[in-house]
Amino acid sequence: MGLGGDFAAKGWLGFSDSPDLRRWLAHAGPLALAARHDPGHAHWLTCEGTWFVGVNALANDAGGAIAGSGPLPGPAIGFARETLGFAGDLDRAQVSIAYPGYPRPRVGESQAAFRFRRDRDAAHVDGLHPVGADRQRRLEEFAGFLMGLPVSEADARAAPLAVWEGSHLVMRAMFRRMLAPHLPEDWPQIDLTEAYHAARREAFATCRRVLVHARPGEAYLLHRMALHGMSPWQDGAFAPPEGRVILYFRPEIAREDWLYRD
Ligand SMILES: [Fe+2]
Repeated sequence: MGLGGDFAAKGWLGFSDSPDLRRWLAHAGPLALAARHDPGHAHWLTCEGTWFVGVNALANDAGGAIAGSGPLPGPAIGFARETLGFAGDLDRAQVSIAYPGYPRPRVGESQAAFRFRRDRDAAHVDGLHPVGADRQRRLEEFAGFLMGLPVSEADARAAPLAVWEGSHLVMRAMFRRMLAPHLPEDWPQIDLTEAYHAARREAFATCRRVLVHARPGEAYLLHRMALHGMSPWQDGAFAPPEGRVILYFRPEIAREDWLYRD
């Protein structure tokens, strides 16, 4: 099975070390750490100081360039462009930093939501947001994929990404069933709450939970519909003082491509 087939079956793929990517990180890494301490980003520190969420906190351009780095290089973005057919602009990367003790409750989080964070990695599909007082799940963002690029040298027990292997197939069946009867411009108005929760239960019951760890210079790619989350920081896990730092790119694609591409 080629890399494309592997990704299509599992819903995620790891990429080995790239010297070009390490050279890019030599520019982007220090700016990611600076973004963490930018006073304008203070609101991103949550879970009692154990997680810096850092959505779009990196000031890279549409090609992934920042501070003279040149465009984002490496096999992961190459795979996204050549095999997945991604031809759009990159978004500003999320700078996700976990610290020892994650998770602690997030501000305003219910006890049930905190238990779900602790026991189920706050598993979710990107783009599905709880909307309104009754927290209806609606699809509001249409990312082509999720690409993770570790910045710091943390070990495999320092709050790694959890992914439910094959869950993208369960979710894809649900999304197509629920959304195909409607025009794409109406998709964000569709209440997906029940269908999503049922699909999530099915994924928990039938898919293997895999912890994904990588080192700076390596990368991983998640299918846009894969169920995933951040796992707890395990006692004694090692990370440098700056924490477990990972950049995530999550660029938007056309809605029809989001629903109907493999
Ligand atoms: Fe996510």
